[in-house]
Order: sequence, then structure tokens, then C-alpha cells
Amino acid sequence: MAEDLQIQTGTKAEQYQSLIPQIKGLLEGETDLVANMANVVAALKEQFGWLWVGFYVVKNGELVLAPFQGPVACTRIKKGRGVCGVSWAQAQTVIVPDVEKFPGHIACSSLSRSEIVVPLIRHNEVMAVLDVDSINPDQFDTTDQQYLEEIVALVNF
Ligand code: SME
Repeated sequence: MAEDLQIQTGTKAEQYQSLIPQIKGLLEGETDLVANMANVVAALKEQFGWLWVGFYVVKNGELVLAPFQGPVACTRIKKGRGVCGVSWAQAQTVIVPDVEKFPGHIACSSLSRSEIVVPLIRHNEVMAVLDVDSINPDQFDTTDQQYLEEIVALVNF
């Protein structure tokens, strides 16, 4: 049985540092991908309270909506489209300080102001992306990138 998440205060780095062992605990001994993605997004949403946190999984040449927390979202994204599709195509994390200035940004929620998308890479192939949206402009930086990349790498694919 999962224990309640211990919500941390402190700097962003401190919050991630205390969250990561808890996420490792949640994933330990569980091999089901949906179950693990679901707990990762729930833990991130609980700790940081962002607008939207979720995975899109590569299926038949498209990104398809997977476990998420937040408002309802678009279900399919093509390679190279939107922030998620660009992260997939480039196999790199993309930080968007102002979604209105990102050409082709896909607005699933009108409340989203900034975004970070982190690819989940296995054997040099993007299998999924983690997408996080915030109601605040310029919410995400390289600290988020560093820790979210670490968290995404914990998900067994
Ligand atoms: N904004 C994303 C689409 C997904 S939603 O934000 C949940 C994009 O441009 O790829």
C-alpha cells in the first residue's frame, strides 16, 4: 500500500530532492507502465500544484494521451507539432517560458502560460513525453529540467 506523499517546503531543488526518493518508493516492485506513470504525475501534481502534469505515449506514429492530472486534454499529437511534438522530434527537453510565443503551441487549456516537456528515451528512441503546464509565465527552468529528466528516467518502459 502506498503511504501518503510527504509534501515538502523549501527551495525548488529541495522539493525535488525529497520527492525523488518517494517516487522511487512508489515505483519499486511495480512493473505496470500505466500504474507507474499515474503515480508519478500524481506525486508531481501534489507536490507542486501545477495546472497540468501528464504523459503522452508514442503509439503508431503519434503521441497519445496517457495518465495525467489536470483539466481534460487533447488526445493525439503529431510528431513536430506543438511543444510535445517538438520535444519528441528533437528527443530533447523543451522549456517554453511563454506559450503564446511558441509557434504551433497546442492550447489544451486557455489557462496555461508556460510549459516544459521532457522526453522519455529508451535505446535512443523517444517512447513518451512528460508534459507540465503552469498558469504562471516563466515557471520552468533548468532546475526543473534536471530533476524532471531524472524522474522520467525512473519510469520503466
Ligand atoms: N501544450 C501542448 C499540448 C498538450 S497540453 O498542454 C496538455 C503542446 O503544445 O504540445
